[in-house]
Amino acid sequence: MSDYILVLDEGTTSTRAMLFASDGVPVASAQAPLTQHYPQAGWVEHDPAEIWEKTLACALEVIPRAGGAAMIAGLGITNQRETVVAWDKATGEPLTRAIVWQDRRTEPLCASLRDAGHEAGVQERTGLLLDPYFSGTKMRWMLDNVPEVRAAAERGTLAFGTVESWLVFKLTVGAAHISDASNASRTLLMGLEDAQFDEGLCDLLGVPWSALPGVTDMAGPLAMTDPALFGCAIPITGLAGDQQAATIGQACLAPGQTKATYGTGAFVLTCQGSRIPRSSNRLLGTVLTQIEGQRSYAIEGSVFVAGSLVQWLRDSLGIVDVAEETEALARSIPDSGGVVIVPALAGLGAPHWQAEARGVIAGLSFASGKAQLARAALEAMAHQTHDLATAFAADGAAWQALRIDGGMAANDWMAQDLADMLGITVERPGFVETTALGAAMLAATGAGLYRSLDEAAAAMRGQLARFEPAMEESVRNERLARWRKALGAA
Ligand code: G3P
Repeated sequence: MSDYILVLDEGTTSTRAMLFASDGVPVASAQAPLTQHYPQAGWVEHDPAEIWEKTLACALEVIPRAGGAAMIAGLGITNQRETVVAWDKATGEPLTRAIVWQDRRTEPLCASLRDAGHEAGVQERTGLLLDPYFSGTKMRWMLDNVPEVRAAAERGTLAFGTVESWLVFKLTVGAAHISDASNASRTLLMGLEDAQFDEGLCDLLGVPWSALPGVTDMAGPLAMTDPALFGCAIPITGLAGDQQAATIGQACLAPGQTKATYGTGAFVLTCQGSRIPRSSNRLLGTVLTQIEGQRSYAIEGSVFVAGSLVQWLRDSLGIVDVAEETEALARSIPDSGGVVIVPALAGLGAPHWQAEARGVIAGLSFASGKAQLARAALEAMAHQTHDLATAFAADGAAWQALRIDGGMAANDWMAQDLADMLGITVERPGFVETTALGAAMLAATGAGLYRSLDEAAAAMRGQLARFEPAMEESVRNERLARWRKALGAA
């Protein structure tokens, strides 16, 4: 019986393939790191050919564990969102490096659009803000600055897409140029109520509509992989941006249910049901699910630096050899000794949206050492999440509990600190790779193994651990006051 689900999870720092049994049990996994290119301060690029080659290699590594491609009922793809790939439809080759979601180079273009008074209208339509984070201005930058992209646009062979779109194009050997509604909703080019990319928004940003993919559902018979790749065709039955996939993987499918993923960045999404989110506190409105044309939405707070701060402590400062050491260091001292880190290394995202802000380490003394810095880095996760909690509450979407996941969520000290600082129960699934699990739920639903996402979630989700708040109010208030002061210097 073909009841395995293959997931390709293409994240910012690595790409991998995971094989799931139909009850959500992970069976096999293969992972490869991705080269990060930083050609200038504030610029972040990936090589689209490397993304494809490594993703394909990971898929080929795990498929034999299912007993071959014929045993796979559906393929789900989930990906780093907003990152833009430009390729030539005729050759199938990339035209330039991908501009990654963290890249800040389009701030001048965003500023000119904001100065011209476009932000309120764009926010009303798309749920997004005019920030370099989103895909639309990155596409425009490529057209203005990369002659090969401009020439392909003039020839009529230019294809733009986010990463799932690029992978589907390669997996189908050019037969499908599609993007799912969750990824499309991160581009500035599709209104939250639109079924497809919008020509008016494309004109505003100077992006040719004809270069964009067709927008599809997130589960269903979306495309077929080329038979030559895996020995036989595998149906592509699930597509989702990674934060939407994690929200689904955490079964946040009813209004008010909230998850936070601590990966490279930290992303908090609260399900809003069929109600289109409208934020007055600089949060984002985004598509959570689209199945058979029916959409549900989420309100989102995106923090740009989470796990990447610990990576920086490891790779640039050499404070730890492996990220997991931060937990023992944080536990080795009673407090951070007044050290506060504001991790604005790539500007500040929600709810501040200050593209030009930069990181701050405050409160240093001769007593400060690597334990204090490691603890301050972990504390910054709760501080950033607390800022989001305040904004969500002000938007009428206060959290009752928070479901956490992502690589950093395995850190028990951080999970407890989140419960303490937020004053709510924090829940963590035994299997923290909820992004891949959510993509597997979509693909299983799309392949007809389950009738709905709710049914897939009930069958595929595992056990939870709970962390209850236990911090004294005075300690909490002191921490928040120090954070606010340091934030002012970012
Ligand atoms: O919006 C960017 C987000 O999708 C990146 O996620 O998991 O690669 O940090 P991740």
